[in-house]
Amino acid sequence: MSGEAEKRVAAEAAAELVEDGMVVGLGTGSTVAFLLPALAARGLSLRCVATSPRTADAAREVGLRVEAFESIDRFDVAIDGADQIAPDGWLVKGGGAAHTREKVVAAAADRFVVVADSSKPVDAIRAPVPLELLRYGLAATLRELGTAEVRAGTPDSPDGNAIADYTGEIGDPAALAARLSAVPGVVEHGLFPPSLVSDVLIGRGDTVEHRS
Ligand code: 5RP
Repeated sequence: MSGEAEKRVAAEAAAELVEDGMVVGLGTGSTVAFLLPALAARGLSLRCVATSPRTADAAREVGLRVEAFESIDRFDVAIDGADQIAPDGWLVKGGGAAHTREKVVAAAADRFVVVADSSKPVDAIRAPVPLELLRYGLAATLRELGTAEVRAGTPDSPDGNAIADYTGEIGDPAALAARLSAVPGVVEHGLFPPSLVSDVLIGRGDTVEHRS
C-alpha cells in the first residue's frame, strides 16, 4: 500500500476520535488533507481552528466551520501530521512550515493526535529541524545558531517570520530543544516533546498502529 493510502487510513481513524460539539485543532500537510473530508463526512457540529491558511481554505471547502484562534482558548482535540516520530515520542514537525502555529494549537489541546504513514517513525531524530525566525536580526540569529539556513523557496510564515532549518547535530532532543529556544530571535522550533502528544496513529498497509 502506498504512503498516500497509509496517510488516508491514519487520518480516517483520527476522524473517528472526534465527537459532536468538540472544538478541534486542524494541523497542516498532506496527511491532514485526508482528515478534512473524513471529518466533514461525519456530519458533526464542530468548531475548528486551522494552523495554516491552506488548511483553513481546504477545511471550509469541505464544509467545516473554521474560526479565528482568538477567543477560543482550548481544544478538545487537535490532529496533525509529523515529519519524524522517534521511539521515545519526540516529534519533528514543520516540513510544511507551520510548526509554530501547530505547537500553539497542540499545547492548547486536551488531546493531541498525530497521524502519519509508516515512513515517519525513525530510530533517532535527524536534521533538519525546522525553525521559524524573526526577520528582525535574522543574520545575527542565524550566526548565533551556527548551523542553520533559511529554507530556499519557502515564503514567510503567515505571522511574517522566516522559515529556516537547523542542520547541525541532534544529540539529546530535549537539550537541543532547550538550546534552540534559548536563542533570541527563534520564534519556535519543530521539536515537539512527548509530553505534548496523546496518541500517534500510524498507517501500516491498510491497518492503523495506535500508540498512546
Ligand atoms: C507542517 C507539518 C506537517 O504535519 C508535517 O510536515 C507532515 O506533513 P505530511 O502530512 O505532508 O507528511 O509539520 O508544518
